[in-house]
Amino acid sequence: MRFHVLTLFPHSFPGPLGDSILGMACQRGLISIQVTDVRDYTHDAHGTADDYQFGGGPGMVMKPEPIFESVESVLADLAPADRTEAQVILMSPQGEVFNQRMAQDLARSTDLVFICGHYAGVDERVRQHLVTREVSIGDFVLTGGELAAMAMIDTISRLAPGVVGSMHNVEHDSISSGLLQHPLYTRPAKFRNMEVPAILRSGHHAQIEQWRRRESLQRTLERRPGMLDAAQLTGEDLEYLRSLGYNQA
Ligand SMILES: C[S@@+](CC[C@H](N)C(=O)[O-])C[C@H]1O[C@@H](n2cnc3c(N)ncnc32)[C@H](O)[C@@H]1O
Repeated sequence: MRFHVLTLFPHSFPGPLGDSILGMACQRGLISIQVTDVRDYTHDAHGTADDYQFGGGPGMVMKPEPIFESVESVLADLAPADRTEAQVILMSPQGEVFNQRMAQDLARSTDLVFICGHYAGVDERVRQHLVTREVSIGDFVLTGGELAAMAMIDTISRLAPGVVGSMHNVEHDSISSGLLQHPLYTRPAKFRNMEVPAILRSGHHAQIEQWRRRESLQRTLERRPGMLDAAQLTGEDLEYLRSLGYNQA
């Protein structure tokens, strides 16, 4: 899986993507993150990549020419089949909101190109004629698309085979599993008078699984009840949820 990031601030990368699990995934060649400085595709002596808005108004707008040329340059380096399949994603607070389902969908692509906006945003012609997808990471406004692209790359990379130790871990994560995950504990068993629940140290695997499932259901009911409508629930799950006051929609 190859990520191509187009930005006016290339030194922001790899940032956290260079550490830990994703840093190792890059070293092992499971993913690659190529960063392109959009300013390298400007044609004047000052490297002008942004300009005033037509019609007046606050903030500078990123010019279309360097963005089109940098995307075209990235795509030109790909094999023809990969070029056709590549997704060009504009980071934007106006886009469809990113979630785990979209991450799973994008993880099927070999090449993902991220355009990071900055200042007041990018020229509208980029959105209309260059991108295949416009994506927001949530209903808030960042100063630039770099952190948003990093959040997406991190999430999608975890789904690439071999990046996280076992796919089992990924499938049991909150959201991915359809529920919020149960509480996690590690050693010591007792810390400042706070004890790990005895059941987790009992060695009774079936009872541990039941405890975890119930904690997961309770957490989801308390924090994200809407998720339960789409979750795959057994009769036993429903019985437990009803005992907690859940009324199925
Ligand atoms: C200050 S924002 C521009 C917002 C723009 N004026 C608007 O109202 O839609 C600058 C850049 O940050 C990025 N950005 C800001 N918030 C974002 C979000 N929630 N998700 C993804 N990208 C975001 C986009 O690339 C955007 O072009």
